[in-house]
Amino acid sequence: MTAKNPIKTPLTPLDSRLFDKYQVKVWIKRDDLNHPTVQGNKWHKLKYNLQQARKMNKTTLLTFGGAYSNHIVATAAAANHMGFKSIGFIRGDELANHPEKWSHTLKTAAANGMQLQFINRQDYRQKSDENTLKNLQLQFPQAYILPEGGTNDLAVLGFDDLMTETTQQCPDWTHLFTATGTGGTLAGLVHASQNLTPKITPKITPQSNTKSENKTKTLSRHILGVAVLKNADYLIPQIQNLIYSASQKKYHNDVNPNQTLPVNWRLLTQYHGGGYAKQSSESRQFQTEFESQFSILLDPIYTNKMVYAFYQELIKGNIKPGSNIILLHTGGLQGRTR
Ligand SMILES: Cc1ncc(COP(=O)(O)O)c(C=O)c1O
Repeated sequence: MTAKNPIKTPLTPLDSRLFDKYQVKVWIKRDDLNHPTVQGNKWHKLKYNLQQARKMNKTTLLTFGGAYSNHIVATAAAANHMGFKSIGFIRGDELANHPEKWSHTLKTAAANGMQLQFINRQDYRQKSDENTLKNLQLQFPQAYILPEGGTNDLAVLGFDDLMTETTQQCPDWTHLFTATGTGGTLAGLVHASQNLTPKITPKITPQSNTKSENKTKTLSRHILGVAVLKNADYLIPQIQNLIYSASQKKYHNDVNPNQTLPVNWRLLTQYHGGGYAKQSSESRQFQTEFESQFSILLDPIYTNKMVYAFYQELIKGNIKPGSNIILLHTGGLQGRTR
């Protein structure tokens, strides 16, 4: 893995009578195809962290996750690929002595050389406490510690290539939908969209006969995160902090924080479908229909909820005619195999 995105991924148009009816254009950005093993948003979140781990001469990546965590698999695969060792602290000690009950996720992580340590749910809750992290670092001095879901300041900075590529493919996009777990991906996309150069941000000149109205307006863009967890409002200030903190850093290019472009973002918290990893029969049916209509696979935990939320927003009239909508496929397809 190098810092450059290895594969340019397609922006695939989705044609449907429903979209014609509401007079919108829709594309799916196939970021799930960006890397053979570290798929979708994981690649963006890990890339600067891996560089940092190297710079610090760390030999091991250590992280946290549940039995179905895409982040656990991605970290194990990235570590394996880059010559790091890896340790995963997994929520739930009931699986410790029962490898036959391990999910596909855990088996894949172990096959990539990740050493799995199962911890009870109570201890797991301390995973981000300052003291816990300090003690872990003392216990594993060679480890570069990544939080659950991989969201940290460096993860947020990893979305510039994706945003630039997508905007080159569709310069006048107006809405971008993405699935939200911890909020790192949403924060990264908002940050990256603020840094888009004016060259690929078209100006819209409204039709008008009067001189005073004939001003040039910058295209208004909306980035919408679809929360996959219940009661996710608590994420909003965390996402604001991540965006702010990224805007203060100059890790990747020379952007002046005072010259960034405005972008509207929102977290839609009503489409969790019962909570993390829960799927109703209606949502299952929606997924089956979408997959057969467009021949594109989704995962039930993240991308299906995101696409479903877009359809609901469209049908409710929350998206204006003339909008150009991008659905970001963030990967997670390994989670289909249980
Ligand atoms: C496939 C997929 N999409 C979206 C997300 C959400 O990303 P974030 O935690 O950065 O909000 C995840 C998180 O793990 C994921 O695995």
